[in-house]
Amino acid sequence: MDYQNILDSIHDEMSYRDVKGKVASYIPELAKVDRKKFGMHVYCGDQHHFHFGDSKEKFSIQSISKVFTLAMGMRLMGEDLWDRVDVEPSGDPFNSLTQLEYESGIPRNPFINAGALVISDILVDQLKDPKQELLDFVREITGDDDIHYDETVAASEKSTGYRNIALVNYIKALGNIKCDVEPIVDFYFYQCSLAMSCEQLSKAFMIFANRGRILENDKKILKPKTVKRINALMQTCGFYDEAGEFSFQVGLPGKSGVGGGIVAIHPENYSVAVWSPILNDNGNSELGMKALERFTTLTGVSVF
Ligand code: DON
Repeated sequence: MDYQNILDSIHDEMSYRDVKGKVASYIPELAKVDRKKFGMHVYCGDQHHFHFGDSKEKFSIQSISKVFTLAMGMRLMGEDLWDRVDVEPSGDPFNSLTQLEYESGIPRNPFINAGALVISDILVDQLKDPKQELLDFVREITGDDDIHYDETVAASEKSTGYRNIALVNYIKALGNIKCDVEPIVDFYFYQCSLAMSCEQLSKAFMIFANRGRILENDKKILKPKTVKRINALMQTCGFYDEAGEFSFQVGLPGKSGVGGGIVAIHPENYSVAVWSPILNDNGNSELGMKALERFTTLTGVSVF
C-alpha cells in the first residue's frame, strides 16, 4: 500500500477552508490554537511511518487521554472495573449529567467525562503518584520521553471546569466515587492537558493494533483481551453522540479529543492520527473526520 501517496492526495484535496466549525473555546487556552493547523501520521506494523503537514507539532490530546487511563485502570482492576463503569454508547454529549440520575451513578462508558472521572478515582485511589505513572506509561508505549503535561492548559481547564467538578460531586453522592473530589479532578485536568503530536499518538496507539505489545521491543504491556475490550469501546463509544457516524464514515475504532485530535487503529495493521482543531457540533474534529473517511476510502481497508 502506498500510504505516502494516499496521504499526499488527502493533503492536496482538503483544507481548513472547507470546514465551518469552531475551535474549542470553553477551555480558554484551547481557543488560542491556530485553526489552520492540519497534520496526519500513519504508523504501520512493520515500523514504517508516513505523514503530512503539522504531524510533528504537539497539541492538547484532551479526551484521547481517556484511552490511556482506561488501559491503566484495566491493568489494575481487570474485569472488576466493569462494576464501576458500563460499556454502552451514551448517545449523549461527552459532558452530560443526565443519564447518571436514572442509572444510579454508573457512567455509560469510560470515554464520556463521567466514566473517565470514575477511572481517575480508581487511579488516584490505587496509585502512589498517578500523574507520574500516566506520564511513564505514555512515554514507554511511545518510546519517547519528550511527552509532558501542559500546565497552562490544565490550569485553564481548572478555572472553568464546573461541569466536571459537578459530575464528580454527583457521582460521589450516588456512591461511585471513593476519593476526595479535588485530587480526582486535578488528575483529570492534567491527563487531558497531555501534549502530543500525531506522530507520537500514532506510535502510542500501535499497542492497540499490535495485541498489547510495544512495536519496537515486543514488550507485552496489555493482555490481548484488554486490547479487544478497549478497541470495542473505541468503536462503539469513541465519538460520543457521533460514534455511529464515525463507524459509518470511517469504519475504524478510534478516539477523539476537543483539542482536534483523532486517533484510529486497524487491528494487526496500522494506527493513524490526524489533527485539525476545528470542531463540529459534537466536539469532534471536522476536517479530521473527513480526512479519515478519505483515508479508509482510498486504502479500501477498514474493519468492516
Ligand atoms: O473534560 C473536558 O471537557 C475536556 N477536558 C475533554 C473533552 C473532550 O476532549 C471531548 N472530546 N471530544
